[in-house]
Amino acid sequence: MTDQLLSAAQTPHDLDFISHSPNQTERIGFRLGHLLQAGDLLLLSGQLGAGKTHLIKGIARGLGYDGPVTSPTFVLINEYRADVAHGRIPIYHVDLYRVSGVTELATIGLDEIWLSEGVCLIEWPERAAAALPLEHLHIVLSYISETKRRIRLMPRGLRYRELLTTFKEETFG
Ligand SMILES: Nc1ncnc2c1ncn2[C@@H]1O[C@H](COP(=O)(O)OP(=O)(O)OP(=O)(O)O)[C@@H](O)[C@H]1O
Ligand SMILES: [Mg+2]
Repeated sequence: MTDQLLSAAQTPHDLDFISHSPNQTERIGFRLGHLLQAGDLLLLSGQLGAGKTHLIKGIARGLGYDGPVTSPTFVLINEYRADVAHGRIPIYHVDLYRVSGVTELATIGLDEIWLSEGVCLIEWPERAAAALPLEHLHIVLSYISETKRRIRLMPRGLRYRELLTTFKEETFG
């Protein structure tokens, strides 16, 4: 799984965006977020400062949550709540950056989270290696310049390919 996440080889289903500002990254997140459903799993890769948390903020806004969104660096998991229009489902924002091994990983109870009726957004998924489900939307953010980022959406599994099809239709008409 680690190799699979790191290699990020492109397939015909993948979709690339270039974001020119933090706001644009949030807007992409917003459009994606409003399409999400309970049970969805999104893995966000990219170096420190790539924009993972900004994208997640947009995703949470797209689900109608308007409170603070920050990397849950010390608690590992933040829980937000979608609005009524999005079924008030829980949004779990996980950051595994500081997780040091499988033992510590086991204490977080990630598997309970994706069995629950919520949306799960994970920063630094490489830390969880083999523990992650094979079906997910993998999002890889890459630094291009100070304000420019490439955002690559890589669906793995039918649900996520369909999600991207809808996303493309809504974005490009
Ligand atoms: N196009 C862009 N999209 C997103 N962030 C950008 C962009 N251009 C510049 N930035 C800046 O890059 C930083 C991204 O920070 P953010 O916390 O979202 O990154 P991160 O990937 O979550 O990092 P970490 O791994 O430390 O959690 C912010 O300071 C933001 O202002
Ligand atoms: Mg972050």
